[in-house]
Amino acid sequence: MCGTDGVGHELGAPTRRLRRRPPHRVGRWGVIATVRNARRLEGSIQVPGDKSISHRALILGAVASGDSRVRGLSTGADVQSTTGCLRELGVEIEGSLVRGGGVDGLQAPARALDCGNSGTTMRLLAGLLAGQRFTSELMGDESLSRRPMDRVVEPLRQMGATASWPPLRVGGGGSLHGIEYHLPVPSAQVKSSVLLAALYADGETSIVEPVRTRNHTELMLEAMGAAVTVDGLKVQVDRPASLDPLDLDVPGDFSAAAFWLVAAAIVRESRVSLLGVGVNPTRTAVADVLTAAGVRLARSKARLEAREPVADLLVRQAGDLRPIRVEGDMAAEMIDELPVLAVAATQIAGTSFITGAGELRVKESDRLAAMEAGLNAMGADVVAQADGWVIKGPRRLEGARVDSAGDHRVAMALAIAALVADGKTEIEGAECVEISYPAFFDHLEYLA
Ligand code: S3P
Repeated sequence: MCGTDGVGHELGAPTRRLRRRPPHRVGRWGVIATVRNARRLEGSIQVPGDKSISHRALILGAVASGDSRVRGLSTGADVQSTTGCLRELGVEIEGSLVRGGGVDGLQAPARALDCGNSGTTMRLLAGLLAGQRFTSELMGDESLSRRPMDRVVEPLRQMGATASWPPLRVGGGGSLHGIEYHLPVPSAQVKSSVLLAALYADGETSIVEPVRTRNHTELMLEAMGAAVTVDGLKVQVDRPASLDPLDLDVPGDFSAAAFWLVAAAIVRESRVSLLGVGVNPTRTAVADVLTAAGVRLARSKARLEAREPVADLLVRQAGDLRPIRVEGDMAAEMIDELPVLAVAATQIAGTSFITGAGELRVKESDRLAAMEAGLNAMGADVVAQADGWVIKGPRRLEGARVDSAGDHRVAMALAIAALVADGKTEIEGAECVEISYPAFFDHLEYLA
């Protein structure tokens, strides 16, 4: 059904053999993935380890007192950026082993820390490094260099840190002190940045969120013995003397699973099982929206992994779906899943409204514009607004040549749209799926 090069070959829990992939092309637009209409999707897969949890396990493991074991880390390029930066800071990471040197065990880096395409790496490390006795500079690729970092510099300065941007430089100043910070924008990255700086701040630090965002940092700090108190939208943490090492199997990434939830919902006669997916309620809001629209989604084998809920998911092709409405504060809880939710909306009779998602303009690409361009090139009726889309459906999509805008979630969302498009769709710059889901096209090939 598709062909690319430069994508990984790792396949989790296949239940049938992969067919040979058709030839790929590499040219001026990077890797061009060809994806064709699918009759149905069937099979069982294990999505990659959760990207958010992987970053946090590496970072917190690096400052734990002793060796952590973190199995099933995301193999994506973003998490490799975090590993690379931590190694520059003197941390030994080998396979599942993270050798923690204690909260004061980091070494001054010899060069600027390269965060690649990863906003999570840059914002979380800025928090961790703000309280160090040495100065660190954090750099990134062209996309990351355009993204706003003042949102972490501001609270870190309030904590007494030396911090400036652009370029992003933190640390090497005096000691930090706790603050109460009201997040102006809902962002788990900013919240986590402040929580990591709080490991080096005298007194208690609290953060008040406008909307609940993913809480992996809070859960992991608790699992490592830190005093964390959560009261509604307020999180408070005291400076810990030390952090216990982790022993963790990273759950599957719900944001990766979301592509298959939508794919199975819109491709006829589909039945897809996703094994061992993290179902932390701060991550699954998109499942509630899909279920409300009529998608048939079942959970089984619910369990806990280091305080994180995990389950197997089964999704089957639904009958007629109802239009989607994302409004008010909802977008923040499903920010990474909105591009593929837009794909679902193109197949639903009626008008779907996705609002409150202005943050999509400052992700790895302007996702509102990139999805509008890609889906409309395939014959959809998508109108981007300042903070969302109005999408009229259903539209019969046609294969077209589309641009990933170098953004992994755009590339994957357009590949899912291609499964219901007539003929073939060519996705330019498809190598960017490496950022979060190297085996994406292998899994697509296997399911289709
Ligand atoms: C993430 C938080 C979100 C999300 C990103 C991962 C995290 O970003 O989009 O993919 O791991 O904390 P924001 O904090 O900018 O919303």
